[in-house]
Amino acid sequence: MSDDIIYSAIIDEHYEEPRNFGKIEDPDEDIMETNPTCGDTIAMYLRLGDGKIREIKYVARGCLISVASASILSERVSGKDVSEVLKMSKNDILSYLGLDLGPAREKCALLSYDALIKMLRKYEKEAKK
Ligand code: FES
Repeated sequence: MSDDIIYSAIIDEHYEEPRNFGKIEDPDEDIMETNPTCGDTIAMYLRLGDGKIREIKYVARGCLISVASASILSERVSGKDVSEVLKMSKNDILSYLGLDLGPAREKCALLSYDALIKMLRKYEKEAKK
C-alpha cells in the first residue's frame, strides 16, 4: 500500500467524521470564508482566552479536501497559543494532509487555514489596542 493511499484513508476518515464540526454560540471571533474558484464556504468560530484557542468549530460546505483539512487543522490548533498558530505556514498545513496537491486543490486545503489566520490576526490587533 502506498503512502498516498494511507493518507487518503486519513483524509476520508476526517471527511466522514469531521472533528469539532458545528457552531459556537456567542464566539469571540467568527468568519465566513469562500473559495473563489468554486464558491464553497466555511464558517469558523473561535473561543479565545489568555492568548490561547480555547475552542474552535466550523461549518463547512465544500469538497472532501476542504472539510478534511478543516477537521485536521481544528485538532492541531485546539488549545494552542495564538502566537504559535500564527507562525504556522501554508506549507505546514499542506504537510499535515500529506498529499501533493495542485494549485486548485491547494485552495480547497487552505480555506480553513485562511479563515483561521484572518481571525487570529484580527484578535491580536484588537488585543494590542
Ligand atoms: Fe470547493 Fe474544494 S472544490 S472547496
